[in-house]
Parts: sequence; C-alpha cells; structure tokens
Amino acid sequence: MVSQQPGGSEEGAVHTPLGSRRSFFRWVTRAAAGLIGLGLAIPLAGYVISPALRRRAQSWVEVGRIDTLSVGEPAQLEYVTIVRDGYIEAKTQKAVWAVKQPDGAVTVFAPLCTHLGCGYHWDMTDRRFKCPCHGSVYDVTGEVLAGPAPRALDRLPTKIEEGRLLVMYKEFKSGQKVPIEL
Ligand code: FES
Repeated sequence: MVSQQPGGSEEGAVHTPLGSRRSFFRWVTRAAAGLIGLGLAIPLAGYVISPALRRRAQSWVEVGRIDTLSVGEPAQLEYVTIVRDGYIEAKTQKAVWAVKQPDGAVTVFAPLCTHLGCGYHWDMTDRRFKCPCHGSVYDVTGEVLAGPAPRALDRLPTKIEEGRLLVMYKEFKSGQKVPIEL
C-alpha cells in the first residue's frame, strides 16, 4: 500500500516535475519549429535577394579591335551589352572612349563627365574632350583643364586578347573628387 504524503504526493512514486517537463517539451517544439522555419527562410531569402546582389556583377566585354585605333587619337567605341537590374535583363547600347598609347596599351575612359554625368565628345580641332552641359574640358589623358568637373575622366579596366580590346564597364558617382563606383 502506498502511503499518502502531506501535500498530496504518494510515497515511493517517481517524482516528475510536471511543470518543468511541460516547459521542456514546449521549448523543444518551439526550437524544432524555429529550425524548420530557418531551413525554409534561408533558401527563400537567397532566392529573393540573389538577383539584387548579382546586379553589380561585372564582366569583360569586347569593344573592338586595337588595330582600328590610331595612336593618340581618341575613338568612341560602341557596343551592345546585356544589362541586368535585379530580375530584369535588357540589351543596351553603350560607348566608351579609347586612346591607344605609343607602347600599344589602350586607355579607356568611362563615357560620362565627372561633373554631373553628361556625355562628352572629342573636339578634334582643339584636341580636347568637351562636355556640352557646363563646359568641363579634359585633355587626351583625361585630366581636367577647365570647368566644374571635380576629377579626371574615370578609367575603366582593360585587357587585350588576340588583338581584341576588352573592357570592364563600370559607372561612378558624379560630382565627387574621387571615383566612387556605383
Ligand atoms: S555635366 Fe559635364 S560639365 Fe557638368
């Protein structure tokens, strides 16, 4: 016969702290639910966010053959590229300015004025790059000669493969003293 203890518990019975066991199972259930939720959330977040992260992915694009360039004569090279913005892909025509150096290397400038981002052109008579918007003027090396441009023309990474000029196109924040890539 089992004797009754004061307070209602029975002598010899296994003492189980019911409250503790309940809260333990509740904790285990919540932890399991949390892990399952995390397991679903991480791939989902990656799926949603990765296109936005890929937006800045850059690649080399061919802009022309170097044997078409004359030493010291800037040439505007146009090319078509695929621009990805998040989930959207679009074919876009772009252009860069290339200047062949006497040693065969090629300097390539981003096509936008560093003041406020207008397109500039090469004035063959004055032998200057000129921006029509506010009058910035650059020499053939891209250095500022006049106007409000805060820095030299932005240079793009280049490489030459079997006579083909490849450029890594980038855009930079306008109006800054130093190039800040967008
Ligand atoms: S945008 Fe070229 S001078 Fe202002």
